[in-house]
Amino acid sequence: MCGIIGYVGQKQAAPILIDGLKKLEYRGYDSSGIGIITLSDHKVVLRKTNGKIQNLEDLLKSHPVPESSLGISHTRWATHGVPNRINAHPHADCTGKILIVHNGIIENYEELKVMLIKKGHKFVSETDTEIVAHLIEEYYKDDLLKATRQAIKHLKGAFALGVISSDYPDLLIAARIGSPLIIGLGKNENFIASDVPAILEYTRKIIYLKDGQLASITKDKVQVFNFDGKLVVPKVDQVTLKIDAVKKQGFAHFMLKEIHEQPDVLRQMFHSRLKGNHVHLEDLKLADKELKNISRITIVACGTAYHAGMVGKYLIEALSGVPVTVDVSSEFRYRNPIVDRKTLVIAVSQSGETADTLAAVREAKRKGAKIVCVCNVIGSSLARESDGILYTHAGPEIGVASTKAYTAQLGMLYLLAIKLGTIHKFIARKEILKLVKGLKHVPMLFTEILKSKENIAQIARDNSHMGCFLFLGRNINYPSALEGALKLKEISYIPAEGYAAGEMKHGPIALIDEYRAVVCIAPESDTYDKMISNMQEIRARKGKVIAIATAGDKTISHHAPHVIYVPKTDKLLTPLLVVLPLQLIAYYIAVARGCDVDQPRNLAKSVTVE
Ligand code: AGP
Repeated sequence: MCGIIGYVGQKQAAPILIDGLKKLEYRGYDSSGIGIITLSDHKVVLRKTNGKIQNLEDLLKSHPVPESSLGISHTRWATHGVPNRINAHPHADCTGKILIVHNGIIENYEELKVMLIKKGHKFVSETDTEIVAHLIEEYYKDDLLKATRQAIKHLKGAFALGVISSDYPDLLIAARIGSPLIIGLGKNENFIASDVPAILEYTRKIIYLKDGQLASITKDKVQVFNFDGKLVVPKVDQVTLKIDAVKKQGFAHFMLKEIHEQPDVLRQMFHSRLKGNHVHLEDLKLADKELKNISRITIVACGTAYHAGMVGKYLIEALSGVPVTVDVSSEFRYRNPIVDRKTLVIAVSQSGETADTLAAVREAKRKGAKIVCVCNVIGSSLARESDGILYTHAGPEIGVASTKAYTAQLGMLYLLAIKLGTIHKFIARKEILKLVKGLKHVPMLFTEILKSKENIAQIARDNSHMGCFLFLGRNINYPSALEGALKLKEISYIPAEGYAAGEMKHGPIALIDEYRAVVCIAPESDTYDKMISNMQEIRARKGKVIAIATAGDKTISHHAPHVIYVPKTDKLLTPLLVVLPLQLIAYYIAVARGCDVDQPRNLAKSVTVE
């Protein structure tokens, strides 16, 4: 949700900032801007525009900025004020000397704005961000860092800030509460950024700024303080991410590349976590005895991660007998959840920065629960705030629609469920061993399905004109139906509903006619016959059925004009396989409709506001 990059050093700032913004474009892309302090006469120069970063690049070609080695820039996901040039960041104070970029929401901006207007400040934008520049101006006498520290003490909400001023042609200030911000350490140059890929080309030495920290950054010195001005010694991490991981590598879209990465992600996960038939989750930081004493589990997550959590509920209950509830993070926090010291809370999040999930975790912690996160981004806020961390190591996911992060979350939840099942001795050991064996085969089966992607693409194209889609599944594939629908609506903008198939006749059947397609997830299972009945009911009403079934199923084609087969596997493992055709259906429909697959409208990858 908004991307920030800032530079101070000896090189030209503008190309570095634009390059970094492109790597952060997944965070928001409705407008962007760059602000620099000129090298020759220390003047502020701003360039802002609506739309994607390409527009900013074009603007800089027609209106280049003078030489500069200090600057900040921003790609926006609008919260306050429409996406236009005026509301784009950076924002300036009345003097035009202080520039601000911001990620997050200033919740008390209205009262601060009223106060500042009374003091004579004039505002030009509708944003919450602009008040920060004016507030710093209000405190500024002769020390920008001090003024920034004084100003941010008045801010409520979440923020990551970058600040520069023409009075300080070699100083970059960074501050954070709630929204991610890193400092990249280079040689005679330093950076700030919302995420690692933005600065990976220049440095691998990173400081993850913590909540309540402020940094003073020049080209050869970085000092980190708490908001009371006390100097703190930051930890410097070495990032091992490969640059290729953030490139498309010949694929038409990041989403397609990430779909293809799934077999490898799972292969590596199972290789490193499954030693023989034993699951190794060292970073869980919970002894077997503690896991044995858990009386209930609550999973909190949002969006796709929530669907992974729902699959996790079916798995954990089936294998360990421990009751599991799954909550949308934003609901959990406000419903006074029953959580105690015997509750294990599992937070699932790709980014580890989702504000709702972080808030849910803090609420659960307050009530005494142990927190384990299933998370992809190393060093994220969620990872830092959890007692145990289960990193999925799926690599950077750039496509806004989550694909490999989902299968990696599923993979990790299978491992955790197997571990809990082993400890709780709820089902026979041979059942567990069968599942472990099946799990090890999944990456290979993924590769099998990918071989039939042209068939899936054709089915997708044939149905891309449909006005509405239903996705139906039962039991452990009910969450798969929800995920299929979410994927399609996110990137193709076709209204799509996911339902437990048994619910069809309780309402959604009213939607069905010849202009609707219904994706029926019907692998071999105890509810297979029931799925067939659903298909008959849909066809009786002229709906177009696209079935996802098990290879070798001889009868399914009598009930569905379009069938996508997935290899045979254990019933509990089917969510891992059926999601691949669901992702590909969404992808190829979006492509056929000419949609922006990697950067769908109105969305952002990392939702850092509640
Ligand atoms: C997935 O395709 C979505 N873009 C979205 O639902 C996402 O899964 C959700 O915002 C949660 O994000 P997180 O996993 O980073 O917490």
